[in-house]
Amino acid sequence: MEAEARQIAERLRSADRVGVYCHIDADGITGGAIASEALSRAGIAHDVAFLKKLDDASIQVIRREAPPVAWFVDFGAGQLHHMEGLDAVITDHHVPTNRDIPMERRRDLVRFAEDEDRVLMLNPHMEGEGSDVVSGAGLAYAVAKALDAGNRDLAAVAIVGAVGDVQDQEFRRLRGFNRTILQDGIEAGVLQAHTDLRLFGRETRPIHKMLEYSNDPWIPKLSGNGEACIAFLLEVGIDLKVEETWRTWSELDPGEKRRIVSELVTHMLSRGCGWREVVRLVGEVYTLVKEPVGSPTRDAKEFGTLINACGRYEAAEVAYRVCRGDRGEALEEAFRLLAGHREHLVSSLDWIEQVGLSRLDAIQYFHAEDKIRDTVVGIAAGIALQASGNRRMPILAFAFAPDGVKVSARAPRELVARGLDLAAIMREASKRFGGEGGGHHGAAGATIPRGTEQEFAKAVDRLVKSQLAGGPGSG
Ligand code: C5P
Ligand code: ZN
Repeated sequence: MEAEARQIAERLRSADRVGVYCHIDADGITGGAIASEALSRAGIAHDVAFLKKLDDASIQVIRREAPPVAWFVDFGAGQLHHMEGLDAVITDHHVPTNRDIPMERRRDLVRFAEDEDRVLMLNPHMEGEGSDVVSGAGLAYAVAKALDAGNRDLAAVAIVGAVGDVQDQEFRRLRGFNRTILQDGIEAGVLQAHTDLRLFGRETRPIHKMLEYSNDPWIPKLSGNGEACIAFLLEVGIDLKVEETWRTWSELDPGEKRRIVSELVTHMLSRGCGWREVVRLVGEVYTLVKEPVGSPTRDAKEFGTLINACGRYEAAEVAYRVCRGDRGEALEEAFRLLAGHREHLVSSLDWIEQVGLSRLDAIQYFHAEDKIRDTVVGIAAGIALQASGNRRMPILAFAFAPDGVKVSARAPRELVARGLDLAAIMREASKRFGGEGGGHHGAAGATIPRGTEQEFAKAVDRLVKSQLAGGPGSG
């Protein structure tokens, strides 16, 4: 893959100026930071811009800006058909435009996509791989490394992008090209990987808070119950404080960690959790060893969450500055955004609890209207599903968005194991109402026109029933 990235590197090197355009999620922002850092180090003039989405209109604007070369990070693959006349390089892991890519061209990851010599793309799909073996950040990293082998220190931020894009979630560790990046980072002395408890907040949260907020896996009697978490830890014999300061997971010694994990396993098994859920307690975690102990920038998952929080509240530049190394003002602002995000999430969950969930035969749903931001309604839906006590039905959530109605869908793991594919359902149902959608089997989304929500929910209900029955439209 590095060999192909070199073609893109050469194109960038010969450009007078590069316009870098990045998606505003975790791997788009980290990818933008990697791109810009690598271009700066190579002495290549460039500008960086962030876009919520890349569509025909935004490409028109870029065409008018006419950068000698445009570099698209974490989007572009699905917009190849809008790129005529642009000199562009694309580092994107999403499914390419459904235009036919001739078989003989799929051999390599880099291909002259549309117009033989004007658009170069690095994309795992062109090698028959999926979106989850590398993120937009990892592909930007591959180009950075091709520009200069000395850029291997940027692997740390690339791994933050991958984890922020939850590429470690399904298998509880990174896979594919992400492992090459990880290895680079380890060799460059910027990363470490360990098998550890996977819960969020290793560096910054008091241990009982880390347990209380666990939702993957959901721990019966402990998730959402702070007092029970304190009692649990005291029973295991853990000192929760050193003097007046709460201890975090990263401060525990290996023996204490082992005791807690072992008790959590027993706790979950004795409360009826299946092994599939229990194993989710533990997985590979990634540490940015050059960052200070106790900082959210030290743990890839916490760093990724910080970036996502900025992206969700239209502050991608703030996260970008943190990724470029700002540990002052930008980091402070990122903390504020994350705190604000948590508040919004708490009030969103309170609101869902008040209004309750509606039910059809096979799904449960709520419409948040303008009570929950479109960029946050997916997370709220995921937590509501866990907390609802009804983990046998997928959940559907609606929220008003600038371009219509945002839909988020989340499914319990058991249903995905039985063959449910929400991405296919979102794609199919949204198409019927003139919208568009996609995503993953267990977490998918769509945008649909206002006023179609009721009919859309019914269509989803029918598709879910049909898929679970193994009927038409399944798989
Ligand atoms: O926004 P949300 O978290 O619900 O999105 C879940 C998944 O659905 C994401 O992977 C996202 O890329 C995908 N999605 C999509 N099309 C949309 C909205 C979301 O493919 N219009
Ligand atoms: Zn991405």
